[in-house]
Amino acid sequence: MKVTVYNCREFDEKELFLKYGKELGIELLLCPDAPHMENAALAKGSTCIDIITSPMPAELLKAFADVGVKYVTTRTIGYDHIDVKAAKELGLTVANAPYGPYGVADYAVMLILMTIRKMKRIIERTNIQDYSLKGIQGRELKDLTVGVIGTGRIGQRVLENLTGFGCKRIAYDLYENDQVKASGVPYVTLDEMWQSADVITLHAPLTDDNYHMINEQAIAKMKDGVMLVNTARGGLIDSAALIDGIESGKIGGAGLDVVENEFGLYYYDHKSDILNNRELAILRGFPNVTVTHHMAFYTDDYVVTVVRDSLLGCKCFMEGRENPWEV
Ligand code: NAI
Repeated sequence: MKVTVYNCREFDEKELFLKYGKELGIELLLCPDAPHMENAALAKGSTCIDIITSPMPAELLKAFADVGVKYVTTRTIGYDHIDVKAAKELGLTVANAPYGPYGVADYAVMLILMTIRKMKRIIERTNIQDYSLKGIQGRELKDLTVGVIGTGRIGQRVLENLTGFGCKRIAYDLYENDQVKASGVPYVTLDEMWQSADVITLHAPLTDDNYHMINEQAIAKMKDGVMLVNTARGGLIDSAALIDGIESGKIGGAGLDVVENEFGLYYYDHKSDILNNRELAILRGFPNVTVTHHMAFYTDDYVVTVVRDSLLGCKCFMEGRENPWEV
């Protein structure tokens, strides 16, 4: 029973792979590199490969099928990086490893609080021993209306998290959820959301229909000083419109765990590089915009879950048992 693990991170995943591999009786080959045509042969003798977000086009999947791989699991919720149709045609089974919504939901609330309390400015000041007060007066959540867009697993958890703060909560989703309604949160139209929310937090997937849902027109309808938090996908917000909104003062602040065109930048050390993402450079420079590198998910619980469950799925597959992680 052998699994080849690609992109195995030394600093957080390796120890867990060794632990769960031993517990589950799975022989592991741990490779720090992303899977590609040149290292696909490493998986010869493995029934399964365990990957992260690197693209798995048909050609690469075929290279793995050719060396005898039968199962591809990804240590992520999303599996859009895998050509699932091609995998099926090649006789490969695909699986994922979903983790809980708590980490991202906590993080969204943290960004909401950081934004309304001007935490970026506060931290920058204390770092240089500027202990003045002017310009860092915050707002209290109890006085604000928070709008949640997307009331799936994460959005619902954010709404629950917010109950203790005494703010007014409103929601928007393409499909209204009965539990959300029963908890006293009204669904509103997007126009109503723009008109009444002081803080808007995004928890919808990016689709063809909602690309740039927060654009110049939407921002124009929002309350003056509105604050935006995005832990969903960068493409939901038109970065140029966001920059205009910050510069004009229409938008009072933003907390962005995701930005447009982040692929290839995030998770790498680019300290010495000239980056080709002007919007990111501008947004990062504003004192009222907190930018983090798409890591709301990154908690101890997340790492344990994806390592353990990706291997559990491999074991189920190899033993011919029912496998809840198959997609
Ligand atoms: P989910 O699938 O449980 O919920 C998504 C919700 O969004 C659903 O209720 C759906 O009906 C709704 N929705 C779909 N299209 C919409 C639209 N156009 N307008 C309004 N609502 C719409 O997904 P989950 O687990 O809650 O995750 C939400 C998003 O969070 C993911 O799609 C992903 O983009 C992002 N995410 C970000 C992470 C991070 O580290 N920053 C980690 C995990 C997810």
